[in-house]
Amino acid sequence: MLLPFELKFGIGQQRLTGHDRPVFETQTIQAADDDFKNAVREAVTLLRAGEVVALPTETVYGLGADAFNPEAVAKVFAAKERPSFDPLIVHIGSVTDLKSVAIVPDEISDTVNRLISEFWPGPLTLILPKHPDVPDLVTSGLPTVAVRQSAHPVFRAINKELGRPIAAPSANRFGRISPTSASAVSKELDGRIPLIVDAGACSEGLESTIISIEPREGKKPIFRLHRAGPITKEQLQAFGKVEKLKQVSADQPLAPGQLPSHYAPLTPLILLESPTDFKPEPGKKYGLLSYKGEDDSPYADIHDWEMIEALSPGSGKLAEAAIRLFFTMRLMDEAGLDCIVAEPLSETGLGVAIMDRLRRASVRE
Ligand code: TXA
Ligand code: MG
Repeated sequence: MLLPFELKFGIGQQRLTGHDRPVFETQTIQAADDDFKNAVREAVTLLRAGEVVALPTETVYGLGADAFNPEAVAKVFAAKERPSFDPLIVHIGSVTDLKSVAIVPDEISDTVNRLISEFWPGPLTLILPKHPDVPDLVTSGLPTVAVRQSAHPVFRAINKELGRPIAAPSANRFGRISPTSASAVSKELDGRIPLIVDAGACSEGLESTIISIEPREGKKPIFRLHRAGPITKEQLQAFGKVEKLKQVSADQPLAPGQLPSHYAPLTPLILLESPTDFKPEPGKKYGLLSYKGEDDSPYADIHDWEMIEALSPGSGKLAEAAIRLFFTMRLMDEAGLDCIVAEPLSETGLGVAIMDRLRRASVRE
C-alpha cells in the first residue's frame, strides 16, 4: 500500500507535513430537512470512494473516513497535519457493530453494557481492546481502540448507510480549537477536504468524555478519565469509581488530547484565577471571556476591556457555556486582541470539562 507520507507509529513525535496533500475546492452541503437524504448520499459516496468528509456530531464537527480503509484514514492525518502518534475515535452506526472494532473482555462486559444502554448514542467514548481488523493507523499502533456511537441524526444516518465504522477526529487543524459549526470547519480545512456536511451548530459543543475501564474483584470498576466532557463524573459515578488517568512514564508519549497545550487560539489566552491577579501591559488590547457577562462578573470593572464576551449571558448555565465555548474562543481569536483573559468557572458537572479546555488553551508550547 502506498501512503502519501512517511508514517511512524508510537515512537516519534513527528508531525506529518502533508506536503503532497491534495488541494480541493471544498463544497459545503446542507443537511436540513429536504436536503437530508441528498447530503447523506453525497457523504456516503465520497466515504466509499476512500475520501474524507467533515460531518456534524452532537459534540463537535468530525473529519470522517472509512475506519477500515487505511488509505482513507491517512488522508485524515494529512488534512489535519495531525501527528501519527495521536489515535482517532471510531464511530459505530449501531451497538451490534461494537464487536467488529473492539473485543470486550468478560470482566468488564456487564459494565460496558450498562454504560452503553445509559449513554449511547451519545458523547461517551470507551477505550477497549482493539479488534485486529482495525488498522494500526487508526489506533496509532496501540492495542486499544476508542469507540463511540454518535447521537447526531445526520452522522448516524451516514454511519448506517455506509455500513462501516467511521474514524473521525475533530475537524480542526492539529492543536487548534475544535469546530462547532460548518463555517468553523471551513476556516480550518478549506481547500484540504472535498466536502463539509452542514447541519448547523453542535448541541453539546465540547468533545466527548473519554474513559477506560479497570475491573475490580467484588467492587465497582474504576473509570480512568482520559478526557473530561459532556458526560460528567457525577453521571458516571453510578456505574463505577471515576479516577484521574495514571501518570505515564516520560518516555511514553501522551496523546495530544492529553497534552497540556491544545485547543489553542492563536491569540494568547490567560486563565485568571482571581481578578486581583490581572497585571495588564500598557498599550495592549485585552478582551474578557466571561461566564455570565459584564453585569454579573467581578472581572468586568477591573479593566477597560476591548471586548467582553459571555459564555452564558446573565443566567450562567454550564450547558450553555459548554455549547458556546469554542464558538466564543474563535470569535475573540478573530477580534485582533493581544490577549484573551478568561474567567474561571466552578469545577462541578460540565464545569470540569470547560475548565479543562480553558487550561489547555492557556498553555503555550
Ligand atoms: O466528541 C468527540 O470525541 C469528537 C467527535 C468528532 O466524535 N472527536 C474527537 O476526536 O474529539 P479527537 O481526535 O479530536 O480526540 C480524540 C482523543 C485524542 O485525544 C486521542 O488521543 C484519544 O481520543 N484517543 C483515541 N484513541 C485512543 C486510545 N486507544 N487510547 C487513548 N486515547 C485515545
Ligand atoms: Mg481534537
